[in-house]
Amino acid sequence: MNTNKKNMEFCVIGCGRLGISLAVFLSKQGFIPRAFSSRSSESVERAIGFAGKGKGYENPTDAAKTSPLVFITTPDTLIEPVCEQIALEGGFTRDTVVYHLSGALSSSILRSAGKLGAGTGSIHPLQAFAPYEDGMKSPFKGINMSIEGDERAVALGKEIVNALKANSFTIPTHAKTVYHASAVVASNYLVTLEHFALELLKQANLSEENAYEVLEPLIKGTLNNIKQRGCINALTGPVARGDDEIVSRHLSDIDQKLPQFSDLYRLLGRYTLDLAEKRGEIGPDAQQKLARLFKS
Ligand SMILES: NC(=O)c1ccc[n+]([C@@H]2O[C@H](COP(=O)([O-])OP(=O)(O)OC[C@H]3O[C@@H](n4cnc5c(N)ncnc54)[C@H](OP(=O)(O)O)[C@@H]3O)[C@@H](O)[C@H]2O)c1
Repeated sequence: MNTNKKNMEFCVIGCGRLGISLAVFLSKQGFIPRAFSSRSSESVERAIGFAGKGKGYENPTDAAKTSPLVFITTPDTLIEPVCEQIALEGGFTRDTVVYHLSGALSSSILRSAGKLGAGTGSIHPLQAFAPYEDGMKSPFKGINMSIEGDERAVALGKEIVNALKANSFTIPTHAKTVYHASAVVASNYLVTLEHFALELLKQANLSEENAYEVLEPLIKGTLNNIKQRGCINALTGPVARGDDEIVSRHLSDIDQKLPQFSDLYRLLGRYTLDLAEKRGEIGPDAQQKLARLFKS
């Protein structure tokens, strides 16, 4: 394998948002885009045009054969079958390192390449990507990217992430699913939680936009407190104080006005009570009353 990573040749299979951005910004750092393959020839042409180099191949195996570094950036469900097809057709060797960029799936779906001696890994950008546009600033710069896989793939993965000017961190292959669940909770479920808060404030005659503006400093301040002090110490409010009367009033209003959120409020309350208990500041009496309310 070429040990000078900066001149390393690579191919991209799946010329969509990630595939094209990866080709453009790795190419700017001296990696050499050799080959592209995708479902449509239009996407391949776009990728070559933006990357400024490389050749299109109808068959992904022919593309994979050109390069020691292969990125499979198809939709998640197609990564494994595409990899299997290339493996079956002899597109990987011991000198190949293959990656996918899915957050939900681990490198184990590339096992068909691993059986041929190829290195296998996944590199996941913790970021949403838009389609690449000409002259676009690097969407990789400064973001966090997880890496997992075999030793060779993890070592090269760090160099790839470094070249993209992103920050890398490694996780064990077996933890990829919980890693992804964490990202879903931190991002998607935060949206759900804020939607709940906005719906409550709309009951006080605020529009959704105004409600968000009113809550925004509180949301940002809370995130900052978590960063500075950790979750347990950042917790404030009636549960942290053991104020069961206030919580009881919340529940009766929510049950009456927004019953679709009753279960969610109770469930979050139970988990919040666990956090408050860890801080050890509420007495057993208040703790029992709150626990009873959240089970009601
Ligand atoms: N977008 C994000 O925000 C983001 C963030 C983190 C990770 N990811 C991961 O990055 C990977 C790619 O996602 P994406 O957002 O770039 O998807 P995308 O924009 O939909 O691109 C996927 C590309 O794969 C091509 N393709 C479909 N079937 C194919 C096949 N059988 N063989 C070869 N190419 C095929 C498509 O082809 P045509 O264009 O030729 O029709 C499309 O260009 C996924 O694993 C995803 O989970 C995405």
